[in-house]
Amino acid sequence: MARDEIVWGILGTAKINDKVVVPMHSAPKCRVKGIASRSGEKAREAAARYGLTVAYDSYEGLLADPEIDAVYIPLPNHIHVEWTIKAVEAGKHVLCEKPIGLDAQQVERLIAARDRNGRYIQEAFMVRTHPQWLKVRTLIDEGVIGELRAVTGGFTYNNTNAHDIRNQSELGGGGLLDIGCYPITTSRFITRSEPRRVVALMEQDPIFKVDRLGSVLMDFDGMQASFFYSTQTHGYQRMQFHGTKGRVEVEIPFNAPNDRPTRLLVSENTSAGVGSERWVELPTCDQYGIAAATFAEAILSGSPQAIPLEDARANMRVIDAVFRSARSGAWATIMES
Ligand SMILES: NC(=O)c1ccc[n+]([C@@H]2O[C@H](COP(=O)([O-])OP(=O)(O)OC[C@H]3O[C@@H](n4cnc5c(N)ncnc54)[C@H](OP(=O)(O)O)[C@@H]3O)[C@@H](O)[C@H]2O)c1
Repeated sequence: MARDEIVWGILGTAKINDKVVVPMHSAPKCRVKGIASRSGEKAREAAARYGLTVAYDSYEGLLADPEIDAVYIPLPNHIHVEWTIKAVEAGKHVLCEKPIGLDAQQVERLIAARDRNGRYIQEAFMVRTHPQWLKVRTLIDEGVIGELRAVTGGFTYNNTNAHDIRNQSELGGGGLLDIGCYPITTSRFITRSEPRRVVALMEQDPIFKVDRLGSVLMDFDGMQASFFYSTQTHGYQRMQFHGTKGRVEVEIPFNAPNDRPTRLLVSENTSAGVGSERWVELPTCDQYGIAAATFAEAILSGSPQAIPLEDARANMRVIDAVFRSARSGAWATIMES
């Protein structure tokens, strides 16, 4: 009999679960059975909080449960690859948080593990299936802003908590891997193309030894994209797409709210800064629920997934080049891993 739902398990009692688990549980064709922690007590507390039936006192225990079809991995970045590979080797599909690895070479290992085990693996860039981003793509494809020439963006927050995984270099912390990856994936998604080279400036926190401020310029064919990110600046996020006839601005591009509509500002036919501006509203939705449902649907129907690992590898190649450029002070070409 054909399966009609994916049973999920969660590895680790991460903070992000507060946004993901309930929407995932109520997403079409999805049910979250349980959550695992390195501590049985934390697992039980989290299972009770999210209304899940099972608490596993080890990650291995969850992976050994034959009823679990798919695993959501919100672990610190440095162990994404290790646990993704363990999960697919246990026969599970995996939705793993971004960045799915620390560099493109690590994503190669995931591609090999996927091919060996015949399971789906996806990087949890939930923005990529949010309707507001699909709408930006449609507007630009339809030529509403003419020919796309430049992308500008920013993503910042202020977090100086020494215990946060983002401020620990040995756990894969730092701003580029945490938030700089978003303007990169959305620029690539919207343009359906890859940058040829990048140049970047990066500043390290002197105590945490992770990057806390960066500015990046990406050279796409006939188009330029630039963005800044910071983990020690006021909270801000915005993406703008500038064409020959107008502009699309995404008001809340990454942490899209689930309690009100999201909005795009579309400016058309501007002449010397004067033009018509209108807001395009997208109905209220939950991007984490949509990401889970889309992934489950791909598994159940055997159809292509929204973000294949080859896309994750391409994103990581850009990130690798940004780090190289920041170190050398020169342009860095995007290299095959
Ligand atoms: N897509 C998004 O919107 C979004 C938003 C925020 C974060 N994220 C991503 O989600 C992941 C988790 O972020 P978070 O801030 O939620 O993390 P967090 O609260 O620090 O949780 C990470 C969890 O990993 C487990 N863990 C295993 N080994 C660990 C170690 N050596 N040190 C610390 N924790 C360890 C812990 O669970 P147990 O103790 O229960 O085993 C811990 O609760 C990151 O990859 C981040 O980039 C994505």
